[in-house]
Amino acid sequence: MVMNFAFEAQKTQQRLLSELDLSLLTPQQKNTFIQRFETGFAPLFEQLFPLYGQCFDLHYHLKVLLQSFIDFQKKKRPAQIKDKSEFWFESNKNVGIAVYVDLLADDLSSLIDKIPYFESLGVNYVHLMPLYLSPEGNSDGGYAISDYRTVSPNLGTNKDLKDLASALHKKGIRMVLDFVFNHTSDEHRWAVAAKSGDQEFQDYYYFMDEKEATEYNQTVREIFPQIRRGSFTYLAELDRHVWTTFNSFQWDLNYANPAVFVAVVEEMLHLILNGCDVLRLDALAFVWKEKGTVCENLPKAHNLIKAFKACLDIAAPQVVFKSEAIVHPDEVNKYIGADECTLSYNPLMMALLWESLATRQTNLLYQSLERSFAIPQHTTWVNYIRCHDDIGWLWDDAISDRLGIDGIGHRRFLNQFYTGQFEGSFAAGVPFQENPVNGDCRVCGTLASLAGVENAIAAKDPLLLDHAIKRIRVLNGINFAMPGIPLLYQGDDLGVLNSDDYLNDPTKVEDSRWVHRKKLTKADFTLAEDNSTPQGKIAQLIREMIQIRKAHSIFAAEEFKLMSLGNEHLFAFKRQMGDQTLLVIANMSEHHISFNHTLNHYFGQDCASNLLNNELLDLTSVQHIEPLDILWLIND
Ligand code: GLC
Ligand code: GLC
Repeated sequence: MVMNFAFEAQKTQQRLLSELDLSLLTPQQKNTFIQRFETGFAPLFEQLFPLYGQCFDLHYHLKVLLQSFIDFQKKKRPAQIKDKSEFWFESNKNVGIAVYVDLLADDLSSLIDKIPYFESLGVNYVHLMPLYLSPEGNSDGGYAISDYRTVSPNLGTNKDLKDLASALHKKGIRMVLDFVFNHTSDEHRWAVAAKSGDQEFQDYYYFMDEKEATEYNQTVREIFPQIRRGSFTYLAELDRHVWTTFNSFQWDLNYANPAVFVAVVEEMLHLILNGCDVLRLDALAFVWKEKGTVCENLPKAHNLIKAFKACLDIAAPQVVFKSEAIVHPDEVNKYIGADECTLSYNPLMMALLWESLATRQTNLLYQSLERSFAIPQHTTWVNYIRCHDDIGWLWDDAISDRLGIDGIGHRRFLNQFYTGQFEGSFAAGVPFQENPVNGDCRVCGTLASLAGVENAIAAKDPLLLDHAIKRIRVLNGINFAMPGIPLLYQGDDLGVLNSDDYLNDPTKVEDSRWVHRKKLTKADFTLAEDNSTPQGKIAQLIREMIQIRKAHSIFAAEEFKLMSLGNEHLFAFKRQMGDQTLLVIANMSEHHISFNHTLNHYFGQDCASNLLNNELLDLTSVQHIEPLDILWLIND
């Protein structure tokens, strides 16, 4: 018999509605809930059916799930942000920053004192790195969560977090929190119960014998090869292997079990009660596993994320998801859409901007963005240059092959270049997770150190320093002008250099990402206030770009086109809104580059001003672009 899906969904929906207890809701809450339930149930059911259609007790799980939405409606949340526009993320006013609570301030309540700093910088989107209860010592920077409902006592209380949310909202700043749903820490109450032998909770994770673990290991990528080989951790007390994609204390959740989905949705609702506006879906590529596959980006991972999104639309439609998929570009894009993630990190552009600074060539950047930059309407890239993680060289090898670039060799070159093992490199980065078998690795370091400031200061060479600062300017000039939300990483706006402090901390020494996770001190801010220092110059240029971006609605233009100027060192693009045009031209090399044509040829008129220095230009006479310069040309 062929199933009539719409009919079955409708029947299940009606049955469930009659079984739910709505008595504690006010009439208005009840109306809102029923309305959202009626539009949202079919999309939810459509995703859950392929995942759990075989589970005899699915109806029970659905009922528990829906009742949790009702309980959620009754709970009080911190004051919401005033701006209720549905597509707020498309505005040119958006500028983000990612910060660790205890590295920028001391704790959540002292972070409130940093709001004036966010405002003066022009930031209205703040990602707070994970701040929940997690194991003492190494907790993967908080990404091993022991309780989603409790703020880490080192950072404060749940009330402090809610107060912070209200304070941010009052100033028009959105709060972004992590939703770390691929794994919990091994100290989470579910993991503790599993360790004690409770079968119900062992089914929350992937417990298996050695033979099965070995089978899975044949096809699964190693994410942290320096931590351990393979993706499993042996638990001697149980004589079982547990799936751990990342550190051994981060246990992957088993979403093949519908109880896990329901339980994690409940945790998600608790995160939302803290007042966040965006949930960052951590490590979402890994959430569905099937033997014989790579266990990344599987079709059912998309069903699962769409199911979470359908839950969000019923329970808290004003919150949006941001995807953290650091994978092949085609796979990155698949998580972006109206029914999945509204926002996504743009790891491709990030990596290829660094690639083009190293090679002084833009072919790979152009070709890759040409293929992958376009995303659906009302979804937005989160563009970034650095973040709290390492840089991985994830482009599509079909494109590098076409350009005659050997993918493996080129990645090796980039790793050597950015970790200072390549003669003549400007960068002072540090390798991360070197694979003992194939020698592959990823790169860590702050923006300033990777762009050459650290080496130039050490060499006391003013020309190298000038180039390094210009590299930071050109990277930011692209990042602030491309379609999307530009996201800064703490300290990069202050020109902070790499820090070796982590080498003295036994809980961090094995994880070189801490080289760019430095506690920001008063000295860092003071240095950045002094315009005669490199840090001061960097701070100033970033602040200026933010102001310009926020003052011109052209930075919200939908129409976008990559422009080839016929020179391998240049990167250019155009944005158009009505009859206003913005043409951005960046020179990725340390040389003057002459234009093949006068710029009016590309711009469609003879006169334009460069927003970055207010200079009015006669485009017919501009012959070349300076080393590592960037132009933001706009018609008046
Ligand atoms: C994400 C985080 C990273 C963390 C990993 C495991 O990639 O950004 O910092 O190590 O997930 O949670
Ligand atoms: C992420 C990524 C990986 C990244 C890591 C954090 O989820 O998939 O490439 O580097 O975790 O280090």
